[in-house]
Amino acid sequence: MSVIKKLRQHWMLVLGLLVALGLFSVSVGIAGAYVLAHTSTEEFCVSCHEMSYNFAEYKGTIHDTNRTGVRAICTDCHVPHEPGPLVLAKIKATKDLYYTYISPSIETEEKFEAKRAHMAQGVWKEMKANDSATCRSCHRADKMSVELQSAGAQRRHAKGKAEGKTCIECHYGIAHNEPEGPSPTELFNSLAIK
Ligand code: HEC
Ligand code: HEC
Ligand code: HEC
Ligand code: HEC
Repeated sequence: MSVIKKLRQHWMLVLGLLVALGLFSVSVGIAGAYVLAHTSTEEFCVSCHEMSYNFAEYKGTIHDTNRTGVRAICTDCHVPHEPGPLVLAKIKATKDLYYTYISPSIETEEKFEAKRAHMAQGVWKEMKANDSATCRSCHRADKMSVELQSAGAQRRHAKGKAEGKTCIECHYGIAHNEPEGPSPTELFNSLAIK
């Protein structure tokens, strides 16, 4: 008997399976959306990073509180906004579970400070590679009213553009204390990253 014939005979079963598969996919989708939403809140990041100082340092900076109340939270700067890179970043971040529960790496101030420069440099390299994409999701260089910026900003922005510098090469340590060691530009030069 051909497969088609068999399927015809058991169409109720086939239909049942298709419905079950459909329901399963929908629940996986909903569960996925829930995980993405939950792990994108400030509370989620701070649940681990409160004790690790980054939250305390960020509090009170211009991205936390300002005249208009428009904020940038942890994920706005640290998590890509495009669906593909977003999911990849979430998968990569599961390593933080290991470094929290199995082999804690930043649970004391000493350990955090010992690791800060290494972590900061990782963030810089990522932002250099994507030309500060997360910053640009809010700050559109082509929509800045340059004429309203200070003379220093106007000059530096023109120069930065001409030199192919990305935002964080000048604006680093804006949400947390500056790390020890080289500045982003010094780091990129030493690694020959263009
Ligand atoms: C389960 C605890 C936990 C949660 C939740 C968490 N982190 Fe982390 N995070 C860590 C640990 C631990 C490290 C240090 C990892 C290491 O030693 O390599 C870390 C490192 C980092 C780093 C340094 C660069 C890197 O990837 O190593 C950044 C940036 C960061 N976290 C941002 C965030 C953001 C943004 C959120 C919210 C979306 C978040 N974290 C949620 C535990 C956590
Ligand atoms: C979620 C949106 C958002 C993201 C993402 C974001 N910013 Fe901002 N940024 C703001 C807002 C809002 C202000 C405050 C504007 C105001 O009230 O003057 C600001 C202010 C600034 C300022 C002015 C500081 C000052 O003292 O006047 C700089 C510089 C800046 N951001 C750089 C960055 C850089 C670099 C990144 C990426 C690492 C970044 N921003 C990511 C929204 C964002
Ligand atoms: C070559 C260095 C350099 C680069 C690259 C650079 N900036 Fe700036 N930016 C400055 C300087 C210097 C100022 C003025 C700081 C001040 O006046 O305190 C400034 C000021 C600003 C301000 C505040 C403007 C105001 O008038 O209040 C914002 C917002 C800002 N930059 C965002 C960005 C973003 C987003 C990028 C990437 C697209 C970027 N900058 C790239 C050097 C740079
Ligand atoms: C305005 C953008 C911005 C926001 C908001 C922000 N960060 Fe960062 N973060 C950075 C940049 C840029 C670096 C790279 C080091 C530097 O320049 O300070 C960094 C570095 C880090 C590091 C590496 C260690 C260090 O201190 O350099 C951790 C961990 C981290 N951020 C966690 C967080 C958490 C948790 C939050 C929310 C409470 C947060 N960040 C909010 C831009 C941001």
